[in-house]
Amino acid sequence: RLLGTAGATGAAGLVVGGAGGAFGGYVARADDGAALTSVGANAIPFHGAHQAGIVDPAQAFGHLAAFDLVAGAGRKEAVALMRRWSRAAEAMTAGRTPDDDDQVALDAGPCSLTVTFGFGRSFFGKAGLADRVPSALVTMPSFTQDAIDRANSDGDLWIQIGADDGLVAFHALRVLQREAAPAAKLRWQMNGFNRTPGATAKPRTVRNLMGQIDGTNNPKPTDKAFAAQVFASGGAGADAWMDGGSYAVVRRIRMLLDSWDQLPTQRQEEVIGRHKASGAPLSGGTETTPVDLDKIDPDGSLAVPGDAHIRVAAAQSNGGAAMLRRGFSYHDGYDADGTPNAGLLFIAWQADPSNGFIKVQSKLDGGDGLSRFIRHESSALFAVPGGPASGEYVGQRLLE
Ligand code: HEM
Repeated sequence: RLLGTAGATGAAGLVVGGAGGAFGGYVARADDGAALTSVGANAIPFHGAHQAGIVDPAQAFGHLAAFDLVAGAGRKEAVALMRRWSRAAEAMTAGRTPDDDDQVALDAGPCSLTVTFGFGRSFFGKAGLADRVPSALVTMPSFTQDAIDRANSDGDLWIQIGADDGLVAFHALRVLQREAAPAAKLRWQMNGFNRTPGATAKPRTVRNLMGQIDGTNNPKPTDKAFAAQVFASGGAGADAWMDGGSYAVVRRIRMLLDSWDQLPTQRQEEVIGRHKASGAPLSGGTETTPVDLDKIDPDGSLAVPGDAHIRVAAAQSNGGAAMLRRGFSYHDGYDADGTPNAGLLFIAWQADPSNGFIKVQSKLDGGDGLSRFIRHESSALFAVPGGPASGEYVGQRLLE
């Protein structure tokens, strides 16, 4: 009915606004007053034990931005900044306009907006908090296949924005970037996307720009081990402020799509270890069937090849190391020679990166069949504190 209404009435048939809208009265409506979809009205709470934007499904639009404190700015300025940012994020994620609004998102609901804040290692010394660097916030080692652009890496402060509407996402980015002044200035910024909710007949795991179903074997919130794998338990010492937080590894990974597209589908499937169309493991079954890494095909070969990405990355191959992958695809146009500048804004969440991304990437670096088709071009690691309680700002337990 919803699609029929939109098709029948066309844009002229939409009524925007009207009394009774859940979020400031602005919901796209058909002539009869019914909301066309629930996309605009969906709100993800800003407050809670964990920050939003970690376990929620990845939204259709994402922006990542890193900032550095300006010379002379320290803890006092950082406190004021985190208060400003938290206040604006709280308002926008609830579908309210922030202070000094520019009206870019005025007639939209919250659209599942999440804003997630993190601190890089370089933040702590500048803020006079060197003694509170959490032990898990290590310096990221270099890997042999890295081609890292340092100007587009690291940073004192990080913001991850996700929303199911492009204007709502941009609006949040612009408001927060403006509010960074005078304490901090932009260091790097990246834009990403995923499938739009409702684009598929039923919700399913997203596809990446190589065409693979990506995210199948992620830890699930219903798993017993999930919280211990993804969220930090701060303990009593210098790390206590990270209780309920997580560590985000951010890697901008270019896909070498011209080479990838030359591989026949069957070879592409052997590189990953899963069927491209269905996402089912090459050992058999459907997308959700557990992978049988020991299965031998009738010809005597391993059903999931020795260098298949899912074999080399699997927790079983890495002493149980696990992470929650929740990324965005990116496409920044084409290079002058016609090469697509596109790939994955890979974001991995874990309780301890040394027992998550770093362990798995060390293994992938040497023996992953996928590595010939990708290039890691940016890298960052952030400590993402737990979610703010009502009345608190993000990071208050570190900065107070
Ligand atoms: C699984 C793609 C980079 C860790 C997968 C799967 C695909 C995929 C298609 C199978 C479906 C799934 O379970 O999600 C890619 C692409 C990458 C990339 C296209 C780069 C552009 C990485 C990196 C890491 C990683 C850098 C970590 C260092 C994993 C893990 C799994 C996985 C842990 C699950 C393995 C399992 O237990 O089955 N990836 N991946 N991936 N990937 Fe990646």
